[in-house]
Amino acid sequence: MTRSAPAPAELLTIAIDVARQAAATAHRMRAEGVSVAATKSTVTDVVTAADRAVERQVLDALHRVRPDDAVLGEEYGAGAADGAISGVRWIVDPIDGTVNYLYGLPYCAVSLAAEVDGEVVAGVVRNVATGEEWTATAGGGAWRDGQRLRCSTEVDLGQALVATGFGYDPARRSHQARVIAELIPHVRDIRRLGAAALDLCLAAEGRVDAYYEKGLAAWDQAAGGLVAAEAGLRVAGLGGLPAGPDLVIAAPPALFAPLHDRLADLDASGGP
Ligand code: IPD
Ligand code: CA
Repeated sequence: MTRSAPAPAELLTIAIDVARQAAATAHRMRAEGVSVAATKSTVTDVVTAADRAVERQVLDALHRVRPDDAVLGEEYGAGAADGAISGVRWIVDPIDGTVNYLYGLPYCAVSLAAEVDGEVVAGVVRNVATGEEWTATAGGGAWRDGQRLRCSTEVDLGQALVATGFGYDPARRSHQARVIAELIPHVRDIRRLGAAALDLCLAAEGRVDAYYEKGLAAWDQAAGGLVAAEAGLRVAGLGGLPAGPDLVIAAPPALFAPLHDRLADLDASGGP
């Protein structure tokens, strides 16, 4: 039996505090110089010392204030302090956009979300380079710098700027490139900016109209997905499935069906 969980706003306050400290560490470590510490799934899937240090800092900070919560992080996986009896699970990507971070491109973020009984209820995404910070709570809207966010009102897929991303596996990338080759004639343009959490946040404020990607992990989409949904985007997978590793589509209501149907025709969730 789980204890009653804190309100989303309370979890968000913790998340913001922890994410700001984490982003400060990532920013400082970037200034000191970055190099590849290891590779993961493929030679291009890199991890830096900062990815690990930042996640460790987040885990320690959360443990201090919420010792009974479970955690899931990109670098250290699942951990549950004291049996995770609280019903709360934190999902952390210490640096989303690690390749941008490595190259000094200002599009990388700390992403931290809180789930209660399996539902994401609070999330923060903070751009490490620019300090832009997006937040959301379930039912409480999506926000950046005190401004409530609304997604694009575009209704024509042919006028839509669509963000997406690629996995690290070469065979998957080839499939994803084939999908783009068939999609790009039917949209305004494609953006591949390099950090899924930030892509979802840009969609939340209409700086891109929509976003889709195959192969996202929970830490890539948890916080950004809530920000997007709370800004009015429909965030889902193909054929009525929830958004997940097979496909995440985040589109304004009027664009969801046309984008979904194109992606289904192109087998965007298929391939390796
Ligand atoms: C990656 C980025 C990228 C997306 C990949 C993710 P990472 O996360 O979000 O934009 O296309 O699917 O794996 O490796 O930088 O944390
Ligand atoms: Ca990462």
